[in-house]
Amino acid sequence: MRLSPESKKKCKIGLVGCGTIGSILAEACKKDLQSNVELIALYDIDKNKAVALADRLELDIVATSLDKLIERSDLVVEAASAKISSEVVEKAISSGKDVMVMSVGGLVGKPHLFDKANKKGSRIYLPSGAICGLDGVKAAKIGHIDSVVITTRKPPLGLKDAPYIKEKGIDLKAINKETLIFKGTAAEAVRAFPQNINVSAVLSFAGVGEKETMVNIVTSPEYKRNTHEIELVGDFGRIYTKCENVPSKENPKTSALAALSAIATLKGIFETVRIGT
Ligand SMILES: NC(=O)c1ccc[n+]([C@@H]2O[C@H](COP(=O)([O-])OP(=O)(O)OC[C@H]3O[C@@H](n4cnc5c(N)ncnc54)[C@H](O)[C@@H]3O)[C@@H](O)[C@H]2O)c1
Repeated sequence: MRLSPESKKKCKIGLVGCGTIGSILAEACKKDLQSNVELIALYDIDKNKAVALADRLELDIVATSLDKLIERSDLVVEAASAKISSEVVEKAISSGKDVMVMSVGGLVGKPHLFDKANKKGSRIYLPSGAICGLDGVKAAKIGHIDSVVITTRKPPLGLKDAPYIKEKGIDLKAINKETLIFKGTAAEAVRAFPQNINVSAVLSFAGVGEKETMVNIVTSPEYKRNTHEIELVGDFGRIYTKCENVPSKENPKTSALAALSAIATLKGIFETVRIGT
């Protein structure tokens, strides 16, 4: 099914990952988006989470496997983990389905997926997540971009369990002042912080790529918000954006705006008037 504003049929959505973002998205499918979409399948590695969400929605739609979910869907929505996002994309595209990805970091270094989507005529949607300014980044890319830097500030809890923190033996509880934890490329950042820095991945896809997009990660016990600042310099001039996000209660690694951006992306598919870049 080619998704378009003109289509009279409801788009069948299969949701992979029934956690913080998945639950908000599922609720939106049943309410705000219900004139255009129908949530037809839920899948989670933890079946109890899929069952609990299905019960809350009063829908009998738990899929027994990822393959079964993809089979039933027009659009597969991934809100699970960077460990599985490329597999979800690969399988969805192979079946000629469209796919929306939240764990964008899992697609870094896998350009063949974009090529394959092109060949198969499938669409890949990457919501802007917890950052703002991708409209300007995409416009700037039409000309010449000199540099792109994203500085992410999160409370220590928001960086917990990241492979980089474990490898370097960083004691987050011992941090008592503003501290630069990581500096590197987006390619390095997504490996070091796969659950915390999807924003640098989506920024790199919109702009100059994962090897040229520079990332700083800073933490402090004083921080109450997940803040992302983007600075881009190009022939056209300079962009500076700052987004101060409230961390979601259920998962402090995830900003509330991320789920809202996913809903807005879904809504955008069916809009006849497209605003912004
Ligand atoms: N693009 C962005 O700006 C952005 C912002 C926040 C979060 N994210 C990413 O979105 C994803 C979801 O975030 P969340 O806050 O909802 O996380 P969450 O931990 O609240 O929920 C994730 C859910 O996915 C399930 N899951 C994990 N691995 C799975 C697998 N292999 N197969 C099926 N289900 C699996 C978990 O059991 C859980 O229910 C994460 O990968 C996160 O890093 C992206």
